[in-house]
Amino acid sequence: MATSLLPRSARVAVVLAPHRARLMSTAQSRAKAKFLPDFSMANKVAIVTGGARGLGYEFARAFVRSGCTQLAVVDLKLEEAQSAAQELVNTACSPSHPDSKPSDYKIIGVECDVSSERSVQKAYAETIETFGRVDSVVASAGIVENYSAFDYPFDRIKRLYDINVHGAFFTAREAARHMIPAGGGAITLVGSMSSSIVNIPQPQTPYNASKAAVKHMAASLAVEWAKKGVRVNVLSPGYMLTKLTKTILAHDQELKKTWESLTPMGRMGEPEDLAGAIVFLGSDASRFVTGTEVRVDGGYCII
Ligand SMILES: NC(=O)c1ccc[n+]([C@@H]2O[C@H](COP(=O)([O-])OP(=O)(O)OC[C@H]3O[C@@H](n4cnc5c(N)ncnc54)[C@H](O)[C@@H]3O)[C@@H](O)[C@H]2O)c1
Repeated sequence: MATSLLPRSARVAVVLAPHRARLMSTAQSRAKAKFLPDFSMANKVAIVTGGARGLGYEFARAFVRSGCTQLAVVDLKLEEAQSAAQELVNTACSPSHPDSKPSDYKIIGVECDVSSERSVQKAYAETIETFGRVDSVVASAGIVENYSAFDYPFDRIKRLYDINVHGAFFTAREAARHMIPAGGGAITLVGSMSSSIVNIPQPQTPYNASKAAVKHMAASLAVEWAKKGVRVNVLSPGYMLTKLTKTILAHDQELKKTWESLTPMGRMGEPEDLAGAIVFLGSDASRFVTGTEVRVDGGYCII
C-alpha cells in the first residue's frame, strides 16, 4: 500500500514499522520468558500414570514444558511407556528449543498395572531408585465403557473400579508413603466432570460413580495428609479429544455433535487445554490448595 495515501500518523507508523517490529519482538520474547516462578516444574521429580498416551501424555508434556527434567511415564506396556518417554525428550529438544539437549533430561518409562498394588509399589521403587524422590504425581490411568446398567457384565464393572478407583488410591497412597518422610509433595488425581453430572446420551453409571469416588478420595486424603505436607487435588476434565473418546466417537458420528451442543463453549477440549490446570496443581503455584476440584470442561457443568 502507498504510504502517501495514509494519514500522517499512520505514515509514521508504517515508516517505523521494521524498527518497532524488531523492538516488539524483543519485548515479546522478554515478556514470553517471564512467568511466575511458582509455576516452574524445574527440579521436581514427577510421575504420571497412564502417561503413554492421551491426557496422561499431555500432562507429562505440560510438566516438561514447564521445566520438569526428571519424570517417570508409568503405563501398562513397557515399550509404550518408554517410547512416550523418548518422544517427550525429542519434543523438548526439537529445533524450536535450541537451548535444550537430550542429556538435560532423565525421562523414563515404567511398566505398571495400577489396579495391582504390588505393581504400583514396584513402579515407585524403580522411580525412587532412579531419582531418589518424587515431588509431583498425577494419577491419570483410567478407562471408560458404555453399557446400560442391565447389560454391564460384573467382571467388567469390577475391572473398571479396580483401575479407576483402587488404581488411583494405590497411586496416591504409595506417593504419600514416599513424600511424607521427604517433607511433602503434590498429588493430582484425574477425575471427570462425570463425578458431578450424568452424561447423556451414553449410559456409563459405573464410570460416573468411579469418578465421584475419585473426587471424594482426593478430598478425604487431602484431610488425612494436610499437616504432613502432601496436597491432594482432583482435576476434572470435560469431553476431551483423546484415543479414549475417539474410540467411542468412531462408532457414533452424531455423538460428538450432541456433546458439543451441550458444552457452552461449543467444542470438545484438546488435551492441551488442560496444561495450565495440571501445572498449577502439580507445582508450588497451588501450595495452599488441597482437597479441591479444578474442573476444565468448557462450562459443561454450569448449565
Ligand atoms: N478423554 C476424556 O474426554 C476424559 C474426560 C474426563 C476424564 N478423563 C479421564 O482422564 C484419564 C485419561 O483418559 P484418556 O482420555 O487419556 O484415556 P486414554 O485411553 O487415551 O489413555 C489412558 C492411558 O491409561 C493407561 N492405562 C489404562 N489402564 C491402565 C492400568 N491398569 N495401569 C496403568 N495404565 C493404564 C492406558 O494404557 C493409556 O495409556 C482417565 O482417568 C479418564 O477417565 C478423560
